[in-house]
Amino acid sequence: MAIQSKRATLDELYEEWEREEISPFFPVIEENNGNSVTTDRHQNLLMFGSCDYLGLSQDPALKAGAIRGIERYGTNTYGAQLLCGHTRIHHEVEERLTALSPAHSAILFPSGMAANLALISAMASSEDVILNDRTDHVSIFMGSTLSGAEMRTFPHNNMAKLESLLRQYGEKRRRIIIVDGLYSADGDFAPLDRIAELAAEYDARILVDEAHSFGIVGPNGLGVAEHFGVLDQVDAIVGTMSKALGSVGGFVLARKPLERELRYMAPSYTSSRGSAPGVAGATLASLSELATRGPELRQRLADNVALILGRLRKAGIDLMKTRSHIVPVLIRDERKTVEVANWLMEHGVFTAAFVYPHVPMGTGRLRVGVTSRHTTEECERLVELLVEARDKFSF
Ligand SMILES: Cc1ncc(COP(=O)(O)O)c(C=O)c1O
Repeated sequence: MAIQSKRATLDELYEEWEREEISPFFPVIEENNGNSVTTDRHQNLLMFGSCDYLGLSQDPALKAGAIRGIERYGTNTYGAQLLCGHTRIHHEVEERLTALSPAHSAILFPSGMAANLALISAMASSEDVILNDRTDHVSIFMGSTLSGAEMRTFPHNNMAKLESLLRQYGEKRRRIIIVDGLYSADGDFAPLDRIAELAAEYDARILVDEAHSFGIVGPNGLGVAEHFGVLDQVDAIVGTMSKALGSVGGFVLARKPLERELRYMAPSYTSSRGSAPGVAGATLASLSELATRGPELRQRLADNVALILGRLRKAGIDLMKTRSHIVPVLIRDERKTVEVANWLMEHGVFTAAFVYPHVPMGTGRLRVGVTSRHTTEECERLVELLVEARDKFSF
């Protein structure tokens, strides 16, 4: 029943936008010129809709890394990593990631989605309970369902409710708390300092998805767990190469027995092709860039974010609870969100429209993807247009 009514709403929204030719989704990107893209409908749009937070996807070092990978190994590997798909490049990526957190070992997956499916279904089974924040990423819910464990959610960042669930499920074999480090639609952090205290008190395990924080948040860019100084208390971290690292792929940083289990047993590692050599080559180059230029890139991103957040807040635009480089501009109404995204494109700026079902109905927003590559003038142009849009569309 619930699914049927959801479907009806989806059809109503998306069909209407397609019929009226106002859907901003699936733009065909014809050209990428660094900070601007040309789509099938608009020329030279300033790109403020990506998760390429450190601007690395366009970096010459990553392009060269990808080419090196292809030249050395071709466009594909011979098989799954377990058998004959684990090249020296894949091996080095895992070694570099492992070196970042001595308490954990890294395993490279084809995507962050595949990493979450594998990790959660390996960590939990029917004797366990998984406690999910209600706004966790969809791949966490998919992995949790796949595990067969009992699943309970707590309202976003509500630690009192999490504690009462931990108390209620004291009899379960394992209690596993799963959160996003940084919530990508809202821009706020999971309170991992408190979560670590609760996990210690109630003998629970912690899994953190650092997809949007890895490379950026924390003294060494390892994510929100590092930011709160609790990295060693976390049982496993999931990351993706598809955001700050400017490449494609996912990884898990897990404690030893879990790492071995994943390596030999997780279907999305053992029975699915790993990254192609070019992709792994770009990832390796990205990790080198982060090791040398990470602090400088993070600082440039922080300066751009401070400029944009400061000016938008001063103009009275609702930026939700963000405390990060993710800039959500709350518009609420779904259709208005789409209209504003289109208007911005007509005026030369691309932002990402987030509407139901990706965020709850009535909380439509633009997700502005600021990067360290944006110039001050580009950030100022974005602010100017968003303020004009707010006045025109009254949000
Ligand atoms: C929080 C979170 N986890 C996991 C993923 C999946 O990552 P990937 O794109 O590498 O599959 C995403 C992607 O959007 C994400 O936002």
